[in-house]
Amino acid sequence: MNGIDERFEFTCELARRAGELALGYFRNLSSLTIRTKGVQDMASEADVNTEDLIREAVAERFPEDAFLGEESSAEFELAPDRGTWIVDPIDGTQPFINGIRSWCISIAYVEGNTICVGVVYDPTADELYAAQLGKGATINGRPIRTASASSLRDGMVCVGYSNRVEPEATLGPLTRLMHAHGMYHRNGSGALSLAYVGAGRLIGYFEPHMNSWDFAAGALIVREAGGRTNDCLPTPQAMIDGGMMIAAAPGVFDQLEDVIFDR
Ligand code: IPD
Ligand code: CA
Ligand code: CA
Repeated sequence: MNGIDERFEFTCELARRAGELALGYFRNLSSLTIRTKGVQDMASEADVNTEDLIREAVAERFPEDAFLGEESSAEFELAPDRGTWIVDPIDGTQPFINGIRSWCISIAYVEGNTICVGVVYDPTADELYAAQLGKGATINGRPIRTASASSLRDGMVCVGYSNRVEPEATLGPLTRLMHAHGMYHRNGSGALSLAYVGAGRLIGYFEPHMNSWDFAAGALIVREAGGRTNDCLPTPQAMIDGGMMIAAAPGVFDQLEDVIFDR
């Protein structure tokens, strides 16, 4: 077993373990302590403790690797010569703290700017989406493929939004998607929505800016399920900066880009 195989199996097991911890908090929301990090940006003890569980497990098994987690991202320094774990302990914090089931654990392993492992776990549905570079994508071990759509009329596109960007960066593409007879969807978890693109449930995803911990795992799941994405991690620095995310089934990727860039 090589280093990537080993990390892939470890990640699948770890995402389930982290999901179990987070699910315990989700079932007892009334006793959860929530902290406001910014406008429409919250974290709870569930986010922090789930990230701690993941960080400690990684440090014990792969002490040579670097770790970038959303809740401890201020401490991260780029280490391009080492493998890096990119982790969102709970993606979909707003749904989570409001008792809505669309949240997930997102864990990716990256070498340089190559995403080698991507795992998204949805604990409330008990669905584990897993992808390894060059080895395909699965839900709970069953292979998945992106949708066979050939037009934006054929399904729903998740349009993500955060106040890291001006509303217009989202509204222009959204308006043009509607004019193209598309349909938008947003469930508050970008990572889970990207996994839905991999599973063929959504035909595409667009968000003007995501952090790397929101998209790294989901992007690999989409690609390994036969879909296309933009070059969302062009350099190791993008782990810190984040950037635009576009993902879609192969038959509609170009049309989605035309709508986004108004061409
Ligand atoms: C957010 C969610 C949301 C996306 C935002 C993210 P969080 O992450 O993924 O769907 O639109 O860009 O910041 O705060 O729930 O971890
Ligand atoms: Ca997130
Ligand atoms: Ca988060």
